Amino acid sequence: MRFSSRKELEEYIAQLKAREDSQRVLVCMGTGCLAKGAEAVYRRFVEVLNARGLAVPVSLEREEKEKGFSLCPTGCMGICETGPRVRIEPRGIQYLRVSPEDVEEIVEETLKKGNIVYRLVQQETSNGKVQYWPLMKDDPFYRKQIRLVLRNCGSINPENLDEYLARDGYLALAKVLTEMTPEDVIGEITKSGLRGRGGGGFPTGRKWQFARMVRSDKKYVICNGDEGDPGAFMNRCLMEGDPHAVIEGLAIAGYAIGADEGYIYVRAEYPLAVRRLRKAIQDAYEAGLLGKNILGTDFSFDIRIKEGAGAFVCGEETALIASIEGKRGMPNPRPPYPAQKGLWGKPTVINNVETLANVPQIILNGASWFRSFGTATSPGTKTFALTGKVKNTGLVEVPMGITLRELIFDVGGGIQGNKRFKAVQIGGPSGGCLSEAYLDLPVDYDSLCGAGAIMGSGGLVVLDEDTCIVEVARFFMSFTQSESCGKCVPCREGTKHMLNILQKIVDGRATLEDLLLLEEAALVVKDASLCGLGKTAPNPVLTTLRYFRDEYLDHVVHKVCPAHVCQAMREFWIDPEKCRTCGKCARVCPVACISGRPKVPYVIDQTKCIKCGSCFEACPFDAIVIRWRRKDQ
Ligand SMILES: Cc1cc2nc3c(=O)[nH]c(=O)nc-3n(C[C@H](O)[C@H](O)[C@H](O)COP(=O)(O)O)c2cc1C
Ligand code: FES
Repeated sequence: MRFSSRKELEEYIAQLKAREDSQRVLVCMGTGCLAKGAEAVYRRFVEVLNARGLAVPVSLEREEKEKGFSLCPTGCMGICETGPRVRIEPRGIQYLRVSPEDVEEIVEETLKKGNIVYRLVQQETSNGKVQYWPLMKDDPFYRKQIRLVLRNCGSINPENLDEYLARDGYLALAKVLTEMTPEDVIGEITKSGLRGRGGGGFPTGRKWQFARMVRSDKKYVICNGDEGDPGAFMNRCLMEGDPHAVIEGLAIAGYAIGADEGYIYVRAEYPLAVRRLRKAIQDAYEAGLLGKNILGTDFSFDIRIKEGAGAFVCGEETALIASIEGKRGMPNPRPPYPAQKGLWGKPTVINNVETLANVPQIILNGASWFRSFGTATSPGTKTFALTGKVKNTGLVEVPMGITLRELIFDVGGGIQGNKRFKAVQIGGPSGGCLSEAYLDLPVDYDSLCGAGAIMGSGGLVVLDEDTCIVEVARFFMSFTQSESCGKCVPCREGTKHMLNILQKIVDGRATLEDLLLLEEAALVVKDASLCGLGKTAPNPVLTTLRYFRDEYLDHVVHKVCPAHVCQAMREFWIDPEKCRTCGKCARVCPVACISGRPKVPYVIDQTKCIKCGSCFEACPFDAIVIRWRRKDQ
């Protein structure tokens, strides 16, 4: 179907809605579930349903409704760890860890008889009682979530344009092209208070306004799908699960600023996202929703995909532009800002995937609808990749202003193994670590900034009592150090210097002077670096120094790692009761720190021991014990 007017599109959507079948088996085909064998589950459903004449595996075909159930592969449902996931609509029955062997039973029991297969249901045991969550609406993981951006993710087939259309897809584009001027669009987005979801939280309407005002024969819009933060996967899931929403948002951004060309920058490590976006772009072209004179209007818009090679710095706007231009992905000083002089020297707006996916909803439902979610200064919702030591890891979307406690303990289900919460690392390598005292902090741009962290693009790693905070800071510093493009000295040398000090601390070689140097270096790198990578790289160190200074002091002064993680803080000790004085340990010790005589238990000189563990491995009698140093030793 090719649409040459808004009316045609609206009529077609009305037809789709009339035929949309109500009974659907949704099989998650997100990257997480695919990795756990979702494809075999899907195939088995095709076989079993077809054998029983219950469905054909193409959704929204009229015949299906008559046959009973339709089968639909979807994007991520949000809780990949328990994949492969299957959901049965309209009841919203959800099954987890489904294998091909379970399919027959699901069809027989649930589809035919309406019974729930409890062994495949989300469950929790507390005080010896088992609680089941067969329905999505009752599941604590979903209860506090508001899925605006993820509304289609896990609910439609991302490779089928009709499914997107049936949910009012491209109606927002049709609306702006036929009844709104570009200024109206910018006005509505500005009124909505939408802020960039890529990390900085810059007001989207204002960014578009800057680019609109610049006179130029050519302008560009770019969707930033680089997502290089460790632990983050929200943008990937969105591109995989609802690619048309991103495309529609990008086209609306193009119309608003006066651009006729857009790019989607996706890292090549996201092959499924790339494939689904390509398919969606092609389908949109064929339907007349991209290309020349969209829906019979004067607006023409092309979209290209640029696959990035996967460097964290390429998410930075100026580096991303250089990368699309075929140059090395290195940042440039700003100003000029991309809105003035961007891709190929032309005015360019760069927006994050999630920012753009919000746009069609705001246009369709209005700015005040959007403002009814979230807080006054951070309206709307935010997606997070909730990971770490939390029970329910996954892709979540919550209203801005939710507290960290609600996010971690209600949505996330609390800490695994009933361990103690220690900290949350929010905002990826540019963000910070917040302690227990901040659990009631509302998650919005300003509150997080005030606490020294940032929203970032949505990576959220929960840490428990077994995590060493200094090691966490060292990990993030080693990430940013190796991802520094090396263009400016403060970032290139400063991050290396900081990493060396952090390494000394975890190795038990640091002094108090090193700690002061670390803090000083962090402030210099933050102030003097050229781009956002260097400017924010010290954040994990600065926040951990602020909230967990005692733990640094334990490492530096007492040479103790309270979480029992830093290997240098452990001791090898010979249990005199078990030692048979064979001398094997002393023979393998590379620094000759073990002494003993026949019939006298051997002893390790702790001041010389390099903790290599050779003695531990050589002892045939398990006489060598690993002990963690304590402060009072
Ligand atoms: C080192 C670095 C990496 C970044 N990575 C991303 C990214 O992966 N995705 C993203 O949208 N923004 C990223 N940003 C922020 C972008 O440069 C830019 O601000 C954002 O795409 C703007 O879109 P928004 O206003 O919709 O948030 C990164 C910034 C820096 C400094
Ligand atoms: S990939 Fe299936 S739930 Fe995330």
